[in-house]
Amino acid sequence: MSDRLFIFDTTLRDGEQVPGCQLNTVEKIQVAKQLEALGVDVIEAGFPVSSPGDFNSVIEISKAVTWPTICALTRAVERDIDIAVEALKYAKHKRIHTGIGTSDSHIKFKFNSTREEIIERAVAAVEYAKRFVEDVEFYAEDAGRTDNEYLARVIEAVVKAGATVCNIPDTTGYCLPDEFGAKIRYLMEHVDGLSSGKCILSTHCHNDLGMATANTMAGILNGARQAEVTINGIGERAGNTSLEEVAMILRCHRGIGIETNINTQKIYPTSRLVSSLMNMPVQPNKAIVGRNAFAHSSGIHQDGVLKNVETYEIINPKDVGIDDNSIVLTARSGHAALKHRLQTLGIELSDEALDKTYEAFLQLADQKKEITDDDILMLAGADRTAAHAIKLDYLQVTTGKGVRSVAAIGLNISGERFEASASGNGPVDAAIKALKTIIRRQMTLKEFTIQAISKGSDDVGKVHMQVEYDGHLYYGFGANTDIVTASVEAYIDCINKFKK
Ligand code: KIV
Ligand code: ZN
Repeated sequence: MSDRLFIFDTTLRDGEQVPGCQLNTVEKIQVAKQLEALGVDVIEAGFPVSSPGDFNSVIEISKAVTWPTICALTRAVERDIDIAVEALKYAKHKRIHTGIGTSDSHIKFKFNSTREEIIERAVAAVEYAKRFVEDVEFYAEDAGRTDNEYLARVIEAVVKAGATVCNIPDTTGYCLPDEFGAKIRYLMEHVDGLSSGKCILSTHCHNDLGMATANTMAGILNGARQAEVTINGIGERAGNTSLEEVAMILRCHRGIGIETNINTQKIYPTSRLVSSLMNMPVQPNKAIVGRNAFAHSSGIHQDGVLKNVETYEIINPKDVGIDDNSIVLTARSGHAALKHRLQTLGIELSDEALDKTYEAFLQLADQKKEITDDDILMLAGADRTAAHAIKLDYLQVTTGKGVRSVAAIGLNISGERFEASASGNGPVDAAIKALKTIIRRQMTLKEFTIQAISKGSDDVGKVHMQVEYDGHLYYGFGANTDIVTASVEAYIDCINKFKK
């Protein structure tokens, strides 16, 4: 059996499905190019039938990247496949990922169907997709809860129909590692065409019980040769298996004898880019890419590490692209230093965009001593709001202990200036009340989180908000050294997304 594991990245499909993580096409292209530099084999670029935005992103990503296979998701439905074929027309290497639920609960409740009919639909979808592309991956949704004997019949039928990869998702994150490994082994032993390599098995594990990576590894150890993963493990609910964990497990445990094409030094910049563009913080203790992943705080550990890093460190941070010696950017740093840092973080800007980012950088550097990678990613993404109809012109707030907060706000709405003031129960309340006297809509703030990007009282605060309007939830984001301004910007970001 081959000792090469193919990495199938679904950050832009399963990851991007997460509420609040949506990217526009330009941002998706940026992520896709970074994934290409990282060395992934397959990029799942979207679910083209689901929206014109997804359709368009698959087209543009197909044009923008060269080496990875571009994959488009479909249901086992001819129209989905037709649209995916159209979206993939510019891809240099293309794959259709089609499939259907195979567990008894999916068959009964989702499809009101029978096991035999599901096999027929699966085969028909693979045969139909094969008319247009050579590389067809089949997914057996909820395979984790599908009994092995029936699953083997489904997989055997689709392999005969021409599937080149069969994806065995643990859609609900339910399986135990032993159970999932045994499932892959059972399929390897009972389905013709798998051990010969005519078709390879893929893992696609969700993290609902915190076992996604363990299950993926169990799958690999039992014969799977593709792993479906996302950067930072983002994805539906508790997320998907994280790319960086699988890549580094295989690198640290060389004895397993399975290699990937991942350039591990690109892992950290890719993690930062995805976190920043998707406004999705990485938990500090996240394996490999969390802020504390290489921080030794206890005295005993520090003592050991100072004597010899091997005492407590199994990975050299440089191997995942964390360079402690990287130049610190300050108000005295020039264009070239900023450009270099942006490139390290996977961002190429036009000269004009670089000039604008540099101006914003200098302004921020006047307010903060040291500019972090997160600050830079935020600044580089700042002109994402340039096309917004509503912009914050100014905000002035008076607040303090024993006084009621008062805010005055100026908005620019499609070029016209609007001003208002209000008092409130704290500075954010006052500012949002003032905002609402200009934007007179029935909106309710549902969620409000403030997070400092790293540390220090001069740090940039990131605000995530969720606002309900007309029965829909809208997610907004703002970042500023002033948290009241960041909050108002996040609120305005939500309003700019309202369906008219
Ligand atoms: O989790 C899942 O089952 C999926 C499939 C659509 C591949 O994401
Ligand atoms: Zn999934």
